[in-house]
Amino acid sequence: MITEFSKKMIIKSAQKAKYRFQKTPEASLKENYGIYIHVPFCIKKCSFCPFYKEIFRKERKNYYLEALLHEIRQKDISGKPSWIYFGGGTPNVLSIEELQKIINTLQEKVKLTEIGIEVLPELINTDYISDLKSIGFTRISFGIQSLHENILKNNNRIYSNPDKIYELVEAAKKNDFWVNIDVIVGLPGQSGETFLEDIKQILKFQPSQIATYPYLFFKNVTAVSDMSDKRQFELMEEAGKLLKDYHRKCIWIFSKEDKISDLARDELIYDYVGFGPGACSTYGKWKIVNPELDIYLNNYRNNVNYSLVALKNNKSNDWRQFARMINDLKCYTDKKNYPAYLNLFIGILKLSGYSKNNVLTKKGLLFAHKITKSLVESLPSPIRNTSFIENYAEYKNAL
Ligand SMILES: C[S@@+](CC[C@H](N)C(=O)[O-])C[C@H]1O[C@@H](n2cnc3c(N)ncnc32)[C@H](O)[C@@H]1O
Ligand code: SF4
Repeated sequence: MITEFSKKMIIKSAQKAKYRFQKTPEASLKENYGIYIHVPFCIKKCSFCPFYKEIFRKERKNYYLEALLHEIRQKDISGKPSWIYFGGGTPNVLSIEELQKIINTLQEKVKLTEIGIEVLPELINTDYISDLKSIGFTRISFGIQSLHENILKNNNRIYSNPDKIYELVEAAKKNDFWVNIDVIVGLPGQSGETFLEDIKQILKFQPSQIATYPYLFFKNVTAVSDMSDKRQFELMEEAGKLLKDYHRKCIWIFSKEDKISDLARDELIYDYVGFGPGACSTYGKWKIVNPELDIYLNNYRNNVNYSLVALKNNKSNDWRQFARMINDLKCYTDKKNYPAYLNLFIGILKLSGYSKNNVLTKKGLLFAHKITKSLVESLPSPIRNTSFIENYAEYKNAL
């Protein structure tokens, strides 16, 4: 009942957001912020993936790059950002020279910091990895999802042989990269056994971190999972027992060191500015989503800057703070930062056995899993679901 109540509150507060297609509010970001670069191209579209992307075409990519560099030059960013992250889509469809151009353009404005990139393993070799290092990347995330060829094939995803992945991970470690591996639990066609076999294999790769994401369902994907939330959670617990040198730092993340990297969590904490079509930003009192590629290119062509803009709302901020706390496996009242209703709710959680000594109990962990899943699945994306756009006719006209 408590879980259902929390889910309802979180979904209700998140879905209040309404976006307007309008001129992008100015940002002046100098400290304590992140930079996200969205590369919206993939060679093939996986049937489970909700992220904004289109099939790679060279001409579109070239025009995108021109527009992206222009967008970076226009923004008032300076100082040293806390992080820079290249996500997608598939950032490694770009050549080293193209990635270097983006980094050089960022460097015209900001001091470089930790730079992360997510990669689809099959498209790269070990030289690409050392070249990434030489142009400034320090963190790499390999998208594995599953090591079973038939499961990936059924989900329209490009497969990589485990030997190849091992070779790439070794190269990344030799080049001093901090290495993450993403797997999904609950993919259509995946069983508990195949997931745990993957974990045992990945353990041999010894990455710095393993992210075990539950299969998240969004309206714009076709794949449907037949695994319950509870079963996903049990399998993560089983994985945790196998991952002996790793510690569970966040609800879905097992890490060897104290340092963790989780963009979804960072998004709950930091202001950040996103570049590229479909990229999200949050700064000042705004939440902003860049338009899809055609409108993004029109912006560039016509030297204007229109995006989808919403006002942050206090209640959804409260619940985001709460979600961040339980994502970090903690649960405590905080009179200074939380409103009374939230502190009361956290008190009830404690009395009901969800937390002890400010830390989530096993019952609390299952709760955190379900709540975090609901939060991520309900985040209003005006690109995925245009009903969140107040003046959709204007947006459509711009296409
Ligand atoms: C943009 S992809 C990573 C880069 C590259 N395109 C790839 O697929 O390897 C980011 C991550 O999102 C996760 N992901 C994608 N769709 C998901 C879903 N429906 N549920 C949970 N995680 C998902 C995957 O673990 C994936 O590695
Ligand atoms: S999971 Fe990665 S490769 Fe697959 S469609 Fe999504 S972004 Fe592209």
